[in-house]
Amino acid sequence: MLIESGSPVAADTRVEISLTINGEARQLQVAPWTTLLDLLREQLDLTGTKKGCDHGQCGACTVLVNGTRVNSCLALAVMKDGAEITTVEGLAKLSGGNGLHPLQEAFVAHDAFQCGYCTPGQLCSAAGVLSEGHAKSRDEIREAMSGNICRCGAYTNIVDAIEDVMQSGAQG
Ligand code: FES
Ligand code: FES
Repeated sequence: MLIESGSPVAADTRVEISLTINGEARQLQVAPWTTLLDLLREQLDLTGTKKGCDHGQCGACTVLVNGTRVNSCLALAVMKDGAEITTVEGLAKLSGGNGLHPLQEAFVAHDAFQCGYCTPGQLCSAAGVLSEGHAKSRDEIREAMSGNICRCGAYTNIVDAIEDVMQSGAQG
């Protein structure tokens, strides 16, 4: 990204960045003010990642960036140049199988959603929680997932699902 500080930025300015998205290397031209969320949804049609608040308060836009949970509405795409991004569309690949990720299976088994709007963010966040390895109990799962709001109130079943996968050791 080569924009000199202090110089005006034209409305049609585009910056070239490289991202690996769900295992696929991509060369992309983005406006410097494009958020990672808008890049995924508007430019790449990866609409599994949801926009709730667009202000870092709901977690609906959570994706994994180099394996770490990130609110993609708060990240500029240009700041993630060179990163590996996993969205809900690529989550199953992390577990190496052809089917669903164990968390996706557990969410289905535990009926851990109602409208489903928060679910992609919940799933990516849960994958991050499991790989971080800090949460060992239901209360710790709740705490670690507290940035992901569910307006349908499916929290109990969401924690059940995550706990199930944590105890099985099948997080992928
Ligand atoms: S849309 Fe990003 S945190 Fe709500
Ligand atoms: S399932 Fe509807 S917001 Fe969570």
